[in-house]
Amino acid sequence: ARPGSLTGRCVMITAGPTREAIDPVRYLSNHSSGKMGYALAQAAVEAGARVILVSGPVALNAPPGCERLSTQSAQQMHDAVMQRISEVDIFIGCAAVSDYRPAVCEDQKIKKTDSDKLTLTLIKNPDILGDVGALADPPFTLGFAAETQQIKQYAQRKLAAKKLDMIAANDVSKQNVGFNSDINALSVYWETGEAVLPVADKLHLARQLIELVAEKYKEK
Ligand code: C5P
Repeated sequence: ARPGSLTGRCVMITAGPTREAIDPVRYLSNHSSGKMGYALAQAAVEAGARVILVSGPVALNAPPGCERLSTQSAQQMHDAVMQRISEVDIFIGCAAVSDYRPAVCEDQKIKKTDSDKLTLTLIKNPDILGDVGALADPPFTLGFAAETQQIKQYAQRKLAAKKLDMIAANDVSKQNVGFNSDINALSVYWETGEAVLPVADKLHLARQLIELVAEKYKEK
């Protein structure tokens, strides 16, 4: 992104996985590394923005110059986002949020029994990006979509369903790119256009994406 293209703007980015507690020692999660979200935070800082990085548990240092709010569960991430959303001009949902969480978190560690079967009941988590898009006066919103097929169709459907300004889709059926990788490739869609950002390292991609966001944000 060009230095200064986001001067005076506040950008909030969610990144990484969430952890959904099963009992005091166990959780459900996913393989998100947080690399794409952290690269976007760095690129937004470089572009002059004030950056709030709302991050699930990852093994990464916060890029210098950004404020990091550390969260564990989807509910905590949702609360951290909503508490500060009125400050935000541009919201980027890059976190791999668990769609479901255990209906109850047991107080004590679940004991192994003689039964071969254990059933966990899951309930739906809030959709953080969807809730931001549904605000009365929403910030400019960018979402991510990980798809294995019909990428354009699903991405454009999500753009409309979540009332987003922009969506960046990765093809997770390709090996070595996307999830938990150092490189990625993105197809980006907005209401009146699209752009392809070919395979590159995530920081390079993040800089291009932030530049595109800055452009579309200004047009809005
Ligand atoms: O609907 P789907 O999960 O594919 O949408 C992915 C996008 O929505 C990502 O930007 C992700 O960060 C966001 N999301 C969210 N909260 C959820 C689920 C997804 O913010 N509970």
